[in-house]
Amino acid sequence: MKLTTDDFTEKSEPFALFNEWLGDAVKTEPNDPNAVALATVDKDGLPNVRMVLLKGFDTQGFVFYTNFESQKGVEILGSMKAAMCFHWKNLAAAGSHSGTG
Ligand SMILES: Cc1cc2nc3c(=O)[nH]c(=O)nc-3n(C[C@H](O)[C@H](O)[C@H](O)COP(=O)(O)O)c2cc1C
Repeated sequence: MKLTTDDFTEKSEPFALFNEWLGDAVKTEPNDPNAVALATVDKDGLPNVRMVLLKGFDTQGFVFYTNFESQKGVEILGSMKAAMCFHWKNLAAAGSHSGTG
């Protein structure tokens, strides 16, 4: 199945949809299909973004490893907000897909 234009945020079972997308990416991406840009925001409202590796997910959310004292760790604990954006180059899609959590 190819990546569709379904909206992750409007799905009744968004993680089932994400599971389909990731399964397609694992089959088609040459490397690191679990690499994801992780954006956070500092106490002044300024955004920061870096790559992490997704280590798992379930209906509770997405799992990645980080030092809690890193910039991303501090900012997530401070704001309790983050955004993720995967770039699955081999999955044809009319637009990009992102999730928050
Ligand atoms: C492909 C790739 C995967 C990475 N995966 C992780 C990861 O899973 N966890 C992590 O803490 N840093 C990972 N890094 C390093 C981060 O991008 C970042 O440089 C580092 O964690 C410091 O980020 P921070 O100071 O904004 O917290 C990865 C870098 C790359 C290029």
